[in-house]
Amino acid sequence: MRKQLFSVLIIALCAACSEKEPALPAAPSAGEVLFTKNCKVCHAQGLNGAPIVGNKAMWAGRKDQGLEVLVQHASEGYGLMPAKGGNTELSKEEITLAIEYMLSTLN
Ligand code: HEC
Repeated sequence: MRKQLFSVLIIALCAACSEKEPALPAAPSAGEVLFTKNCKVCHAQGLNGAPIVGNKAMWAGRKDQGLEVLVQHASEGYGLMPAKGGNTELSKEEITLAIEYMLSTLN
């Protein structure tokens, strides 16, 4: 009987531990890492008029074009935005991940 109670206690304690886990800072996503390395220099502060992350108004018309068009513009260059932000080694997948991260800041 006592042993059973002990097991119940242990299980309850473990449940309490695992509940705390989401509070730990999550590791940055691949998209966020790519953004920080290649895009943040302009898109954090709006250099040359770059749309700033988290700024819904600046992204309003752009976001509506859809991911496909945004990826194409960022890959080929667009206005004062250099192709791939200047890092020609980035793949289409990496550009897409970086943009998906940027768009996620608008939610
Ligand atoms: C040297 C500065 C600079 C860097 C680095 C840079 N951007 Fe930009 N970006 C700009 C500017 C300026 C614009 C606005 C261009 C315009 O509308 O004339 C822009 C616009 C964009 C747009 C919107 C395009 C559209 O169709 O409206 C996307 C998406 C984008 N950048 C993605 C990225 C990604 C992804 C990276 C990193 C891989 C990146 N940018 C790096 C300057 C930069």
